Amino acid sequence: RQDEREQFYRVNELAARFYRRVLLEDGAGEAGRRYLERRGVDAATSEAYRLGFAPDRWDGLAHFLQQQRVPLPLAEKLGIVRQREGGGYYDIFRNRLIFTIADPQGRPIGFGGRVLDDSLPKYINSPESPIYHKSEVLFGVDLARQAMRGEGAAIIVEGYFDHLALFQSGVKNVVATCGTALTPGHLKLLQRYAGRFYTLFDSDSAGKKATFRAMELFLGENVPASVIELTAGEDPDSYLRKEGADAFAGRLKGARPIFDYFFRDLVQRSDTGSVAGKVAVIDQLTPFLAKISNPVERDLYVREIARVLGVEERALLRKLGKGPVTAA
Ligand code: CTP
Ligand code: MN
Ligand code: MN
Ligand code: MN
Ligand code: MN
Repeated sequence: RQDEREQFYRVNELAARFYRRVLLEDGAGEAGRRYLERRGVDAATSEAYRLGFAPDRWDGLAHFLQQQRVPLPLAEKLGIVRQREGGGYYDIFRNRLIFTIADPQGRPIGFGGRVLDDSLPKYINSPESPIYHKSEVLFGVDLARQAMRGEGAAIIVEGYFDHLALFQSGVKNVVATCGTALTPGHLKLLQRYAGRFYTLFDSDSAGKKATFRAMELFLGENVPASVIELTAGEDPDSYLRKEGADAFAGRLKGARPIFDYFFRDLVQRSDTGSVAGKVAVIDQLTPFLAKISNPVERDLYVREIARVLGVEERALLRKLGKGPVTAA
């Protein structure tokens, strides 16, 4: 078993080197080099991330691995080549920019590949494998470990390029979910390095949904977290390109605790002029409010909610089951 795991790492390592060499040296990597230039990725960043390029042919990697005497069924289990009906193997990643996904120790466990144009799917990713469990892996943990420890905090973004843009601008305590939901396993991993968290998801409806799901996780596990908000329609990468690092620093400073964010958003979306609207807002807030374990923090929110909605604090407290039992 252990032996097989080592083999898997070795095969991915070889694949990472192959993609990297194509990006740096090969004529076939020219399109990838131009793409990175267009997106403002410098050489040091490209090196740190071990970016690569998958050539636009059916058997670039398969051929290379064969030359290296790698048993291709092993590479197939990693999801980087597949067996052809008539025999032989073909590459899964073709004509794509390659991100190497590493474990916290920096060992390559999977890959993500982006098209260079608008064709779909925009990204393809390695499937689950014996060394790659998506619910436990976050992109960039290996690069962010030290900074997360230093800051005591981690910033969670959606995408590869978001991670890269922040890292390149000097914000290094960053990890990316790569479009999947944040899981308890992810949180456990991050808690090895940091105690506070920021969500920084895309400012669109999918990003908002991801923010709320993450919020439930953080509140449920009683972990302090805040939401960094960007201009509508932007993601961290596009925001940094448009507004720059100082503007981002302002957004980071202005991050709002998740419950505060949730409350404001809910009030904004609801008809708080009517009794039914107020009741609905309070019904949705109460379960989360009840999860805030710091009594001072909870009390301050109770007051705030009472004020904004024009209800009695006592009524809210009773609903929370913390107030006087007798009718007022
Ligand atoms: N993703 C994916 N497969 C897709 C689309 C997205 O795996 N078909 C993942 C990728 O990890 C991607 C992340 O979800 O980085 C966020 O998706 P999106 O916001 O659509 O892409 P960006 O990261 O913004 O990519 P880009 O800036 O290159 O357009
Ligand atoms: Mn396993
Ligand atoms: Mn997105
Ligand atoms: Mn995005
Ligand atoms: Mn983007």
